[in-house]
Amino acid sequence: MTIDVVILAAGKGTRMRSDLPKVLHPIGGVPMLGRVIDSAKRLGDVAITVVVGHGAELVRERFADSGVQFVEQTEQLGTGHAVAQAIPNFREGATVLVLYGDVPLVKTATLQDLLKASEIGPALLSVIMDDPSGYGRIVRDGNQQVQSIVEQKDADAETLKITEINSGILAAPGKLLAQWLPELSNDNAQGEYYLTDVIARSVSEKIAVTGVIADDPYEVAGVNSRAQQAELERALQRDQAEALMAAGVTLLDPSRTDVRGALTCGNDVTIDINCVFDGNVTLGDRVQIGPNCLLKNCQLAAGTVVEANSIIEDATVGEACTIGPFARLRPGTELANGAKVGNFVETKKARIGLGSKVNHLSYIGDAEVGEGVNIGAGTITCNYDGVNKSKTVIGDGAFIGSNSALVAPVEIGAGATIGAGSTITREVSADELAVARGKQRNISGWQRPTKKS
Ligand code: UD1
Ligand code: CA
Repeated sequence: MTIDVVILAAGKGTRMRSDLPKVLHPIGGVPMLGRVIDSAKRLGDVAITVVVGHGAELVRERFADSGVQFVEQTEQLGTGHAVAQAIPNFREGATVLVLYGDVPLVKTATLQDLLKASEIGPALLSVIMDDPSGYGRIVRDGNQQVQSIVEQKDADAETLKITEINSGILAAPGKLLAQWLPELSNDNAQGEYYLTDVIARSVSEKIAVTGVIADDPYEVAGVNSRAQQAELERALQRDQAEALMAAGVTLLDPSRTDVRGALTCGNDVTIDINCVFDGNVTLGDRVQIGPNCLLKNCQLAAGTVVEANSIIEDATVGEACTIGPFARLRPGTELANGAKVGNFVETKKARIGLGSKVNHLSYIGDAEVGEGVNIGAGTITCNYDGVNKSKTVIGDGAFIGSNSALVAPVEIGAGATIGAGSTITREVSADELAVARGKQRNISGWQRPTKKS
């Protein structure tokens, strides 16, 4: 089956009250249009045309590398007119699947069902709604055969009672659409060229239309306002949380876990409340994430524990590491197995070796730290001279006393010891002790100043 996907994304989205085109607003951290494109791509080898209009430049720019084609609809004359803009892209013998850039949660499996149904003629996706107001109604005859779609504004009182509504999503032979769309009339309440009119046309040509009913209304729900965006955000998060739990992840509260991208977990992972996972995050077996953590584009290997209020971004963490509470691992951080990064420690472009510890109140940036190193509280790598960044290298087994400033570029040899409070500006060789601080003087008999009465 040759599948040509047409995604409508020309509308203005007035009710979003935004400078950003509606389809670029995110759901689960991904622009709505991106989600629709991804669902379409999962159908296999499809050609995708996106119909753009309002904010066309921004939409094109954002999806320039996504392998889709764009056609412009300069005036929004209706959904039928919008799909007609893509006719030149229809391939010989293709089935055309119409999707919407603002209907972001449609599932690939549902689309597969719809495409299957479209093998014999046009197929539309509908859903039953308690409150169908605003939507086009699906009119069926006594034999449950789809007859037509009637828009809310064109419907009589009887038709308005129908609770099966049109999702807008449909699949039909491209050849038929290419013939019918240019012949649509805009003689209706909205003066628009309705895509939905192809249904009645098909029936009049004795080509049966199949209605596929989706069971989850969120799958076909569109976003017209920030409130609807928030509603779909919750629906997606609930779904993702359920999938994680079904895969064996413990979520202390599924309604307080947010995944904005892809989270992959090993066995027996535990995630406490209020954690956000952004981009691609992988957690190995038995990883534990404490409350209030933000993890973005990172991999944590088996047995690692992240304590409360930690932030990890673009980092790679080995097995059985301990992070936090209140740690911040910035981009380019790599922790080897068993490393510890404790409270109020910030790392950036830093490799921390096997079993090494940075337990308290430190900044370690542009650094290579060997194995079994102990970095005392308050140690700072002074990596920036106001112009350039320089590197600090610390050898295996070194011991850095508390409150040391390591002025980069500088190298501390294996097994070296740095006295607490030192400001180190020159290389320290292996096993040396370096102390660089004012000598202590004790003055006996010293009198504190007293207040004059
Ligand atoms: C449409 C359907 C209705 C269905 C509803 C589901 C028609 C005539 N009606 O109505 O049966 O119940 O969707 O949400 O199709 N768009 C363009 N160019 C245009 C017009 C629309 O790109 O000229 C895009 C919009 O950006 C939007 C989508 O198509 O994403 C739907 O358009 P909209 O005007 O909102 O359709 P509805 O009136 O909601
Ligand atoms: Ca409309």
